[in-house]
Amino acid sequence: MTIEHIKKIGVLGSGTMGAGIAQIAAQSGFDVLLYDINAEILQKAFGKISGFINRAAEKGKMTREEADIAIERIITTTHLPNMAGCDFIIEAVPEKLELKQSLYQELDTITSPEIILATNTSTLSVTQIASITKNPGRVVGMHFFNPVPLMKLVEVIGGAISDEAAIQTTVEMAKRLGKTPVVTKDVPGFIVNRVARPFYLEALRLLEEGVADHATIDRLIREGGGFNMGPFELMDLIGLDVNFAASVSVYEAYFHEPRYRPSLLQQRMVESGRLGRKTGRGWYEYDEGEDK
Ligand SMILES: NC(=O)c1ccc[n+]([C@@H]2O[C@H](COP(=O)([O-])OP(=O)(O)OC[C@H]3O[C@@H](n4cnc5c(N)ncnc54)[C@H](O)[C@@H]3O)[C@@H](O)[C@H]2O)c1
Repeated sequence: MTIEHIKKIGVLGSGTMGAGIAQIAAQSGFDVLLYDINAEILQKAFGKISGFINRAAEKGKMTREEADIAIERIITTTHLPNMAGCDFIIEAVPEKLELKQSLYQELDTITSPEIILATNTSTLSVTQIASITKNPGRVVGMHFFNPVPLMKLVEVIGGAISDEAAIQTTVEMAKRLGKTPVVTKDVPGFIVNRVARPFYLEALRLLEEGVADHATIDRLIREGGGFNMGPFELMDLIGLDVNFAASVSVYEAYFHEPRYRPSLLQQRMVESGRLGRKTGRGWYEYDEGEDK
């Protein structure tokens, strides 16, 4: 399907990424169908999205009318077969291969074969996700960055068996969503997550070795390195569980390359439920009123 024919975007998963993707899709003029496993999660996500859009209107970034129209464009559902009415689907469910594959198998039976299925996976093989579907050529990686409304970059990943036309339409879609697409090959972590692994892992090692505390490391990276956020602040924003899963996945995919070995300390943080902003506590503590 070419970009001109795409009117309605389906988004699977309404978490950190799915909610952001739904928001920018609606703001870019698309109808959006947002899917998740239960109504309560969806209601929370919808509240968050409309809150962000309303705030943008209050700040003068869009008119009141534009904000109302964007919010009205988003419909939520817990019924996957409703995706049949979508022209382009973006999947942002948790980073688990079996989960993603089983969803794509269901989508095989629900959607027509010319609809592109774009995965927001950070580290999994797009080729592997595609491989068990009936039409693997239409499965493409579309890797957004967090927070989606603010981050310009989108990596578009052609799996080994993705159709060239599907890659091109995904590139066009990224542009229509106001993003800057970069096409990359299907290697573990693609470009950005590969480069970013040592950023987190070396910082965690410094902490584990007692070289400095996390706040000091963050301050040095910000003030000395000119970064907007330090590695621990960024982990809190991303979600420690999501960041840890990305490390495990890249480590496994590179045949246990020691440079990518995940951190035990981070694993313990995840096990303790300190997942970052989304749980109110990670490396730092967050008040109820803060943006999560
Ligand atoms: N968080 C980030 O910074 C970031 C950045 C880029 C890419 N990603 C990738 O995006 C994907 C989603 O990450 P996230 O951070 O939004 O996760 P998240 O945990 O915030 O959200 C995942 C959502 O998926 C829902 N879900 C779980 N099982 C489902 C199912 N079977 N069907 C539909 N929905 C289901 C959950 O209820 C939840 O709302 C992952 O592949 C992740 O690697 C994350």
